[in-house]
Amino acid sequence: MAVLDILVYPDPRLRQPALPVSLLDDEIRRLVRDMAETMYQAPGIGLAAVQVNVPLRVIVIDISADQSDLQVFINPEIIERTGATQTEEGCLSVPGIFAPVERADSITVRSLNQDGETVDLYAEGLMSVCIQHEVDHLDGKVFVDYLSRLKQERIRKRLQKQIKHGIQSTPVSDAVTL
Ligand code: NI
Repeated sequence: MAVLDILVYPDPRLRQPALPVSLLDDEIRRLVRDMAETMYQAPGIGLAAVQVNVPLRVIVIDISADQSDLQVFINPEIIERTGATQTEEGCLSVPGIFAPVERADSITVRSLNQDGETVDLYAEGLMSVCIQHEVDHLDGKVFVDYLSRLKQERIRKRLQKQIKHGIQSTPVSDAVTL
C-alpha cells in the first residue's frame, strides 16, 4: 500500500472529468487500497480518485470514529435526492478551509462495490453530504465552487501563499474534511 499525494486547490487537475471504471481489475483494487490509506493518514473521511490525480470514478468514504467502516463506490450515480441541509464542509484538497454548503438532505446512490456488484444505498446526514461532496470531485467540482466569488478568490490566494511558503495547515476538525 502507498500514501498518495493529494492535489491542492486551485490545481487545474482537480477539474479533470473522471471516466467510468470499465474493468474492475487488480489495478483498481490497488488504487482503492492506496486511496483508503491516503484518506486515513490525512486524516479525512472521504476521498475521490481525482484528488490523487487518477481521473476515474472511484470514491472511498469512512465516517466511523475509528476508521473501521470503509465504503467503496465505483462509478457512483446519485439517482435520488430529497430535502435540503447545510453542513460546514472541508476538503483534503482545500486544507484548513471550512465553509457551509447546502446539499440534498438524503440521497440514493447506485454504484459498483469492489466485487463488481451493483448496489443501491440510501444515505442521510453526514454520509449523504460526504457522497455528494465526493461525486462532485468526479465531475471536476470542489466545494468552494458553491461559495461567493469573493470567498473563492480569498481561498485561492490563501492556498497559493501556503504552497509558495511550504506551509502545511492543520485542519481544525477532521470530522468534516471530505
Ligand atoms: Ni473533498
